[in-house]
Amino acid sequence: MSDRPPSNKPSPPARVSIAAPTGTRDLYPVELARRRWIEDQWRKVAVRHGFEEIDGPTFEQSELYSVKSGQGILNELFQTFSGKDPEQAKAAGAGQAPFALRPEFTPTLARMFAARAGNLPKPCKWFWQGPCFRAERPQRGRLREFWQWNCDVIGGSFGPDEPENSERAGLDAEVLAACAELLVLCGLGPESIKLRINDRAAAARLIASCGGAGREHEALVLLDRRAKSHPPEWAQQFAALGIDLARFDAEARAVSFDSPGFASLGQQIRGAGLEAWCVVDPNIARGLAYYTGMVFEVIVDGERAVAGGGRYDNLIELFGGPPTPACGFGMGDVVLSLVLQDKKLMPSDKEIARALGLRPDVFVISNGAPENDAALPGVLAGLRRAGLHARRSYKASKNIGKLLKDASDQGSLYAVILEDAGEVSVKDLDQNKQRDGRVRLEDLLAKPREVLPPGGLG
Ligand code: HAM
Repeated sequence: MSDRPPSNKPSPPARVSIAAPTGTRDLYPVELARRRWIEDQWRKVAVRHGFEEIDGPTFEQSELYSVKSGQGILNELFQTFSGKDPEQAKAAGAGQAPFALRPEFTPTLARMFAARAGNLPKPCKWFWQGPCFRAERPQRGRLREFWQWNCDVIGGSFGPDEPENSERAGLDAEVLAACAELLVLCGLGPESIKLRINDRAAAARLIASCGGAGREHEALVLLDRRAKSHPPEWAQQFAALGIDLARFDAEARAVSFDSPGFASLGQQIRGAGLEAWCVVDPNIARGLAYYTGMVFEVIVDGERAVAGGGRYDNLIELFGGPPTPACGFGMGDVVLSLVLQDKKLMPSDKEIARALGLRPDVFVISNGAPENDAALPGVLAGLRRAGLHARRSYKASKNIGKLLKDASDQGSLYAVILEDAGEVSVKDLDQNKQRDGRVRLEDLLAKPREVLPPGGLG
């Protein structure tokens, strides 16, 4: 036994190392800037196409998703308790928690529209972007937390069962046009990515005509899984519904935008100049249970879908609103980023910083004289108050060459060097060009945009 007196130093706290949950991302500045760039393209397209932005809660009452999202989504809900109400937690037991993190936005949108339907313009064109949560098995293109962009057109004066209605087809085409425009803005072309379009009613008729009458719903659920399944096993399950697969595939190949159920949409697609982007694909069924008509997915070969959507003419009524048709889509940031990176279409980090307005306008450097070192914080403050993005170096070095390198490494357009006698010299770092003569510091602070024009010294 040691006879040393017990130390009264407190023992250090136990260190913990907790990783981020699987399927989530920690976004450091460069990665967040890339996502912001994507969000920026989403917002630009939505605004250009006349959609207005809305937002809703990140979590909802769980029942919102049991109404009509389908089993796939229900199995992937992140269920939540308030933490204030242990009774609720006990009552739920192994059942459903009272709240869920939103796995998608469409039920929230339908709830919001239903609550104010009488006072809203019709059609209402809404867009939204934000995080969604699904307890999926993380894999390429699929995470547990991801960003989604939605554009939806709500309203229209056609009934649910009017086939080939041109107003409805026109609104469907508006939704497709916004989706395609985003792909254009990102530099993608119709040779590498397609909007694969189907119609649930036409698909159900095709299934029935191939022997699946009465089992259309199950067949659509299976069709949605076709691309992700082992083909022989899938074919067996499809055949078990009484459907002749060879016949289904042969008839599916013959379907086009001139076929019954697709002709009005085909006409609108041609009218909008979208024909190169769109193909009919009778294998597209969509996993969500609320779709009633046109459905589509945006697919690059070998990747999960970049986007998906369709028409859901009953959902708003289900949430207590008046019968209101609606159509829209959701696009995620995960697959879109993968595709843009693979195809080398993601702009460089420098270009992104410029596009987002994150590039420093000016970097202020002292020439090393003690009075200039002391003046530097005030100069920075003045430039910042005038609206410029102004930075300084935090390096200990007084070497002007090293400080200028720090300025250009941080991507600054200008460097301003505080010289003696209340003067500054100005350098355009893009062009490696020095402004002739010096400028009075007070003139820089009074009219910074004249001394430092946003487009460079020219
Ligand atoms: P969704 O097909 O479930 O549709 O999702 C749309 C897009 O969100 C997908 O194509 C994909 O890019 C992205 N996404 C979905 N799940 C994940 C995940 N686990 N990880 C990464 N990205 C994912 C809907 O959500 C519908 N509410 C869309 C809609 C709006 N329909 C009408 N209006």
